[in-house]
Amino acid sequence: MRWRVTVQESDANAVHALVCETGFFSKSEERIAIELVEETLSLGKESGYEFVFADVPGNPGRLLGYTCYGPIPDTESSFDLYWIAVAPAEQRTGLGSSLLHETERLALLQNAKRMFVDTSGREQYTPTRNFYERMGYREEARLVDFYAPGDDKVIYAKTL
Ligand SMILES: CC(C)(COP(=O)(O)OP(=O)(O)OC[C@H]1O[C@@H](n2cnc3c(N)ncnc32)[C@H](O)[C@@H]1OP(=O)(O)O)[C@@H](O)C(=O)NCCC(=O)NCCS
Repeated sequence: MRWRVTVQESDANAVHALVCETGFFSKSEERIAIELVEETLSLGKESGYEFVFADVPGNPGRLLGYTCYGPIPDTESSFDLYWIAVAPAEQRTGLGSSLLHETERLALLQNAKRMFVDTSGREQYTPTRNFYERMGYREEARLVDFYAPGDDKVIYAKTL
């Protein structure tokens, strides 16, 4: 396994394969995940998106996990974790923790002070919320029925 922060052409398909594999995301969320990669490929740093990939050397089509994060426009030092996903076969091996620690380290180098992440309040996301809490994130807001009736938006934050 290798860490990589530079986005390459093959990442659009590799990210798509990975987010589909997790079974956690809707079709429109899958599309957004690809668009974040495509926008970064065309605009570079201007896109406002940054990535940390855990990939397999010699197999550019395969990602074991990744994060997408970046500074929140019009804030002084707040960052958003836009995406985190780990391939099912690699989950519970510490890869998600390592990816998030590396993401936080890189954000700190860019003077980030607070990292924010949105997730769903649905039962399916209980492991995800456990993960964020284990990583030191605290629930700071809950927007009831935000995504759909019975599907709250939960906003977590961590001071880096
Ligand atoms: C959330 C996710 C990135 C975590 O990655 P991971 O590699 O499995 O996480 P780690 O192995 O580093 O787990 C760290 C800790 O988080 C908690 N955790 C992780 N997965 C958990 C689960 N399924 N159930 C309960 N707790 C869990 C545990 O406390 C775990 O520590 P432990 O294994 O020592 O008990 C991964 O499960 C994933 O990709 N999920 C689907 C996509 C998703 O939900 N993305 C976020 C959308 S908002």
